[in-house]
Amino acid sequence: MLEVKNLNKEYPMPGHRLKVLSGIDFTLNDGESASIVGPSGSGKSTFLYILGTLEPPSSGSIRLEGKNPYEMNEKDLAAFRNRKIGFVFQDHHLLPQCSVLENVLIPTLVSPPDDSFQKRARDLLEKVGLTERIHHRPHELSGGEKQRVALARALILKPQLVLCDEPTGNLDHDSAKTVVSLLFDLHRSQENMFVVVTHNLEIAERFGRKFKLSSARLQPV
Ligand SMILES: Nc1ncnc2c1ncn2[C@@H]1O[C@H](COP(=O)(O)OP(=O)(O)O)[C@@H](O)[C@H]1O
Ligand SMILES: [Mg+2]
Repeated sequence: MLEVKNLNKEYPMPGHRLKVLSGIDFTLNDGESASIVGPSGSGKSTFLYILGTLEPPSSGSIRLEGKNPYEMNEKDLAAFRNRKIGFVFQDHHLLPQCSVLENVLIPTLVSPPDDSFQKRARDLLEKVGLTERIHHRPHELSGGEKQRVALARALILKPQLVLCDEPTGNLDHDSAKTVVSLLFDLHRSQENMFVVVTHNLEIAERFGRKFKLSSARLQPV
């Protein structure tokens, strides 16, 4: 379960403070998903980074499985983020020198070696339709294929929370459609929480609860 209470975020600017998020309350139960739409600059990425333990809020609290990540020391926080949260960004962020399979395994590298990771990576790559490409390097893949690798990588450690920031933002219509279907199927089969920021109305419609971020407020739509 993810619980956000009275979350506020401001950035200091010359002469004033930019209020990006104001009084946000948000709860997601295990297995639920939410989509967030909103104009550019409305704070969607900021909100996801805060949920993702990457950017502390100015005030307010976040609890994932009852734990507030911003009360942890750096080492515990890094381990918590690695284990509990999967990220899919607009840009795939794959390592160019690593194969598809190696990229999917990157989040596992801080854990003791375990053959089950290999199997799960191959299973996930099969689910996203890339079994034939596991030894290829990212530059040999299309944009949509790279994003499908990023999906598999986000899920390799079975994170409780998967955060997607405009995952189809750089894709053409057909590739976006494939990625949307996969996101949706993976969400149903993995039973974790998904929060997806998107301009793609098809995603916004398909993910359980729908929100809009504007004027620093998060509102159901
Ligand atoms: N690190 C930062 N320092 C100052 N301002 C920031 C920072 N990150 C984001 N902002 C500002 O916060 C607002 C929200 O940005 P962002 O969360 O990226 O919006 P969105 O993802 O909805 O387009 C924007 O006005 C942006 O310029
Ligand atoms: Mg953004």
